Amino acid sequence: MGLFMKTKNIKTFKIITLFPDMFEPVFGQSMIWKAQKNNLIKIEIIDLRRFGMGVRKRVDDTPYGGGDGMLLMCEPIFNAVKSAKKGLKNAKVIITTPKGETWQQKSAKTFSQNDENYIILCGHYEGFDERIMSIVDYNFSLGNFVLTGGEIPAMAFVDSISRLIPGVLGGENSAQIESFANSENLLEYPQYTRPEIYKNLPVPEVLLSGNHAAIAKWREANFTEKQK
Ligand SMILES: C[S@@+](CC[C@H](N)C(=O)[O-])C[C@H]1O[C@@H](n2cnc3c(N)ncnc32)[C@H](O)[C@@H]1O
Repeated sequence: MGLFMKTKNIKTFKIITLFPDMFEPVFGQSMIWKAQKNNLIKIEIIDLRRFGMGVRKRVDDTPYGGGDGMLLMCEPIFNAVKSAKKGLKNAKVIITTPKGETWQQKSAKTFSQNDENYIILCGHYEGFDERIMSIVDYNFSLGNFVLTGGEIPAMAFVDSISRLIPGVLGGENSAQIESFANSENLLEYPQYTRPEIYKNLPVPEVLLSGNHAAIAKWREANFTEKQK
């Protein structure tokens, strides 16, 4: 093997937040925890307060022109991003914002397959000083509603990307045959488990037949279009 053999990128997420304690209960569980343990992904939580200004470690200020609430200031964010980029190859900055493009399965798929690593900015209060956009590569929204902070969207982005990385899910086919996998609007067929009848509600007979061709045909026919 040559001296300059290319090492595989372990998809890395660095999340910049004012509320670092929110993440452990989510990322310290289940498949995302296991994916980190198995070195399939890396997640680092960065406390924005560390980059705050002055003795009080200030990160926010009132908006020019007046109005309610506080905005996250440029300097702490610029410094936190600069620090997060150190040693991180192919680093891209994602900002969580209701003004962004709505996150979809196709975005999760693209982001799981490329060799980019992500620094995710979680806003809070009234959001960000607009000049922060100058260091951002992607703007994403979780949907047309407003949350108090970007932590829940950041968790959703990391989870939906990570579960599509080979080895993270148990069944390798499960991410290929599921809602939105092959089309933005196509939802997975209904699924059932034991018992065969529950409160007079039976499992469709074909699923008990053992006839794999018939089951595949039934499933194919029972993908549905998502209602707008
Ligand atoms: C209260 S919101 C700010 C809303 C902003 N003033 C506006 O009207 O667009 C605070 C932060 O939560 C996050 N956030 C709220 N809703 C979001 C959504 N739908 N998608 C992604 N991030 C969201 C963003 O990081 C945002 O900066």
